[in-house]
Amino acid sequence: MHLFSAIFLLLMLAVVPCETLYPSSEEGWQIYSSAQDVDGKCVCTVVAPAQNMCNRDARSRQLRQLMEKVQNITQSMEVLDLRTYRDLQYVRNTESLMKVVDSKLKMASENPRSLNPKSFQELKDKVTQLLPLLPVLEQYKSDARMMGRLKEEVRNLSLVLIAIQEEMGAYDYEELRQRVLLLETRLHSCMQKLGCGKLTGVSNPITVRASGSRFGSWMTDTMIPSSDNRVWSMDGYLKGRRVLEYRTLSDFMKGQNFVQHLLPHPWAGTGHVVYNGSLYYNKYQSNIIIKYHFRSRSVLLQRSLPSAGYNNTFPYSWGGSSDIDLMADESGLWAVYTTIPNAGNIVISRLEPQSLEVLQTWDTGFPKRSAGEAFMICGTLYVTNSHLAGAKIHFAYYTNSSSYEYTDIPFHNQYSHISMLDYNPRERVLYTWNNGHQVLYNVTLFHVIKTSGDA
Ligand SMILES: *[C@@H]1O[C@H](CO)[C@@H](O)[C@H](O)[C@H]1NC(C)=O
Ligand SMILES: *[C@@H]1O[C@H](CO)[C@@H](O)[C@H](O)[C@H]1NC(C)=O
Ligand SMILES: *[C@@H]1O[C@H](CO)[C@@H](O)[C@H](O)[C@H]1NC(C)=O
Ligand SMILES: *[C@@H]1O[C@H](CO)[C@@H](O)[C@H](O)[C@H]1NC(C)=O
Ligand SMILES: *[C@@H]1O[C@H](CO)[C@@H](O)[C@H](O)[C@H]1NC(C)=O
Ligand SMILES: *[C@@H]1O[C@H](CO)[C@@H](O)[C@H](O)[C@H]1NC(C)=O
Repeated sequence: MHLFSAIFLLLMLAVVPCETLYPSSEEGWQIYSSAQDVDGKCVCTVVAPAQNMCNRDARSRQLRQLMEKVQNITQSMEVLDLRTYRDLQYVRNTESLMKVVDSKLKMASENPRSLNPKSFQELKDKVTQLLPLLPVLEQYKSDARMMGRLKEEVRNLSLVLIAIQEEMGAYDYEELRQRVLLLETRLHSCMQKLGCGKLTGVSNPITVRASGSRFGSWMTDTMIPSSDNRVWSMDGYLKGRRVLEYRTLSDFMKGQNFVQHLLPHPWAGTGHVVYNGSLYYNKYQSNIIIKYHFRSRSVLLQRSLPSAGYNNTFPYSWGGSSDIDLMADESGLWAVYTTIPNAGNIVISRLEPQSLEVLQTWDTGFPKRSAGEAFMICGTLYVTNSHLAGAKIHFAYYTNSSSYEYTDIPFHNQYSHISMLDYNPRERVLYTWNNGHQVLYNVTLFHVIKTSGDA
């Protein structure tokens, strides 16, 4: 177990009334992100503009738009809040679990005969493992309080904007607009930081649908931000060309409202990904990656992944020509594969989405044949040890530090044959194709936030 320095995001909003403003050509709304916060918090500070022109024009329509923006920011914050809440629930569950184990241990040590030495030792080990979580629990509770404060501050900003609209109508709209835009950007970057972390848990599965054959792949767009809700389904792993596109998840569940794309070149495996409106997939019997654009129904690009094995030479444990696994996370597009020089060990390459050029490559040292599947979250590759029942997330490779560790994160493999497993950073869920079932899992990420520098 590790201690995780925790998060946070503090947004301070101060609006200075028009009369008190001092002329200064450069001072606008300023958004700071503190690097020095002692608690390792992600601090966003917003300071209102010092205006040199108190424009008397009442620009109520423009102000209304501005208020809508603030409203939108509020909504983003709700999402953030939900995430934090979800993590907090997980932490609370862990906490109560810990209490149960702890009291059992106490009982057992008072009455040693109730437990044989082996299970006693097991229990003790478990508690030792769990103990470092305690300070993390405390941190999470205080984070939840901070979130409440943040929401109140944004509410206050809205009120101030209303007041400006009613009483003065005096702010320079363009200036305000620019600053709100900046605020959005900053909030977005804080959210991305807050959204990232180390995988510590996988929820129970939710079966969305049973469709198609035993092997296949399904997904939504992985790019952040994106409001594209289409769902794509690609049945089979060999020589397929037919991609079904559903308008929404609920259409996918009912099997209605879909269109078909017939790819000009067939695919191999199930490692496809949709990123920014294009499908990236491995061309049948080659190590070529194809970028197919859905809206224009055309291939934008083909490029070979240098020396990558293909044609079922280096698949995951289940076979199925799963040599090249493409995926996207918070930091962009990735290919997971192996080569003969890498002796069949998993290699990770970061790809440039426009050119498919390899930007950087890591050798994880983990044999691909012993991997059930792999997925990327926040620049970390997680590898399962099997595609069958009893599979666990067994290995993690950190591209940020080029280091690895063995993990033991269980998940319920309900239909006992996973032929696709991918993380969607936008929805923060795992998509899987399990024996003809399309299944989702939520993930719990412990946030590891460093405040130094900023995006
Ligand atoms: C607020 O969000 C809605 C829905 O996402 C969008 O249609 C609208 O244009 C946004 N308003 C502003 C001012 O950004
Ligand atoms: C929001 O405004 C109210 C009323 O002016 C004030 O009491 C409160 O402290 C403000 N909250 C924050 C977080 O700034
Ligand atoms: C790399 O990322 C992992 C997981 O997010 C984190 O635990 C670790 O501290 C990071 N290491 C460095 C050197 O930034
Ligand atoms: C997403 O695609 C659009 C065009 O469809 C392009 O302008 C934009 O740069 C792309 N964004 C990324 C991050 O690739
Ligand atoms: C791919 O593998 C099949 C079956 O092993 C073989 O018949 C075929 O020649 C291989 N094709 C290429 C391009 O390597
Ligand atoms: C994930 O969590 C959200 C919010 O708690 C919930 O609505 C959703 O059903 C969950 N999905 C899965 C797959 O557990």
